[in-house]
Amino acid sequence: MNAQNGNLSFIVLGASGDLARRKVIPALFALYCQNLLPANFQVLGFARTKMTDEAFREMITAHLTCRYTPGEACGERMTEFLARCFYRSGRYDSRESFQALYGTLRELEGPQEACRIFYFAVPPAIFHDIAHALGGAGLVRPAGSQPWTRVVIEKPFGTDRASSDELSQQIKTVFDERQIFRIDHYLGKEVIQNLMALRFANLIFEPIWNRLYVDKVFISWAETIGIEGRAGYFDGIGVIRDVMQNHLLQMLALVAMEQPVSLTKYVRDEKVKVLRSILPVTIEDLVLGQYAAGGGQKGYREEPGVPADSITSTYAMAVLRVRSRRWSGVPFILSAGKALDRNMTEIRIQFKRTAGHVFLDKWPEGLPPNELVIRVQPDESIKFGIMNKVPGLGLNLEHTELNLRYASAFDGLIPEAYESLILDVIRGDPGLFICEDELEASWDVFTPVLHEIDEKRIEPEPYAFGSAGPAGIQKMLSKFPPRW
Ligand SMILES: NC(=O)c1ccc[n+]([C@@H]2O[C@H](COP(=O)([O-])OP(=O)(O)OC[C@H]3O[C@@H](n4cnc5c(N)ncnc54)[C@H](OP(=O)(O)O)[C@@H]3O)[C@@H](O)[C@H]2O)c1
Repeated sequence: MNAQNGNLSFIVLGASGDLARRKVIPALFALYCQNLLPANFQVLGFARTKMTDEAFREMITAHLTCRYTPGEACGERMTEFLARCFYRSGRYDSRESFQALYGTLRELEGPQEACRIFYFAVPPAIFHDIAHALGGAGLVRPAGSQPWTRVVIEKPFGTDRASSDELSQQIKTVFDERQIFRIDHYLGKEVIQNLMALRFANLIFEPIWNRLYVDKVFISWAETIGIEGRAGYFDGIGVIRDVMQNHLLQMLALVAMEQPVSLTKYVRDEKVKVLRSILPVTIEDLVLGQYAAGGGQKGYREEPGVPADSITSTYAMAVLRVRSRRWSGVPFILSAGKALDRNMTEIRIQFKRTAGHVFLDKWPEGLPPNELVIRVQPDESIKFGIMNKVPGLGLNLEHTELNLRYASAFDGLIPEAYESLILDVIRGDPGLFICEDELEASWDVFTPVLHEIDEKRIEPEPYAFGSAGPAGIQKMLSKFPPRW
């Protein structure tokens, strides 16, 4: 469908929830404000909670922002947008509820049926019920037909390889793989999308993007908050399943993959190859941590709803090895932690040290390595660490940064990840979504060690809330001294 014409029904299942209200519908409004939605569109929310259209509109209004239409125009745009938002309640496992939903859709769409996107903003435990009821009510048109039907689903996609496979099978009883858009919202982030431009639109990186020049790659995610009352979701899941197996592994794939044939579905082919080349993580390659009390904050085990003997990890560092000619011998060091001393997500490519240089008298221990740092959040930037002469008399060297800060370098607004991804669903571009093969390969990297941790009840190492993480990090990093 061309974004400027056509007819689109965007159906949000679980529309009473957090994701729908905070992310999905505000992203649709942002697209609307940029004239990126088709001329005819309707948003139809569905959940069990009873609500009128008016109450639904009121609920979502609180989260719509005027980023793209500041000033007086915004109120008008909001009124127009909200007039196209509707809500129906029903049961997720009921064919009748979805037949009634179909009736509403037909009234809203007019004489011609619209293209339909079903956005599953609900916990995965009910994906199957919904898919089944949608299929039973005749709401899903086969892949390849016009107007088309697509479905968007969110992580978590299972908790290990077997449960992920089961979930995939359940969805596939109703939807074809070509219709399924699995969101990993990190892939919609501006700096992550720029990774491909950085790598494949510049000449200088390709010759050094390999084991001959790269010493190690760090992919790090840190947040300063703990679980904030989400014990029900987080306990037993832990940070490897929540962040590392999906977001960080996807970033690794984009860093390590070969250039795709084109920027559409072929990106996924290259990511799958890399993911399949990663050796399964072993327990020796892992540091596990759990936050304890610190700085006046509760420890994880004191959080409401967390068992006093919980072994759930709130911090993990894993060393991954990619078995390929490009990357053999280069450790990819992934880390993710809650209740740490900073908030940030970044990719740090550390190059090998300069050998045989002429500055040995000043730097007998070796020059610091060049580093390319891709900061995903909070302050989007690309930095390149180089050695530089300090201006002045004499020859003093300093490690300095060439710094491309998005906030000062670009005038335009940085879109929210969901805006970019929802637009891709509308356009039918699957490049930034996770295909089934990727999902399988990602779980294969972590499933054996996750099972071992659970079966042997391996205790994570405590670290203080607000600290840099468990002491085991230093021991792990000492195994990878800088190389020439
Ligand atoms: N929130 C985020 O930022 C975020 C980010 C990434 C991924 N996700 C994933 O996206 C999905 C939705 O997230 P969310 O935060 O919006 O979840 P949520 O608020 O817990 O659930 C969304 C809606 O689903 C219905 N629901 C919840 N639990 C249910 C149950 N056990 N049985 C039947 N219906 C239930 C509720 O609506 P009714 O009771 O009205 O039916 C609820 O309003 C989850 O899988 C989550 O892991 C969320």
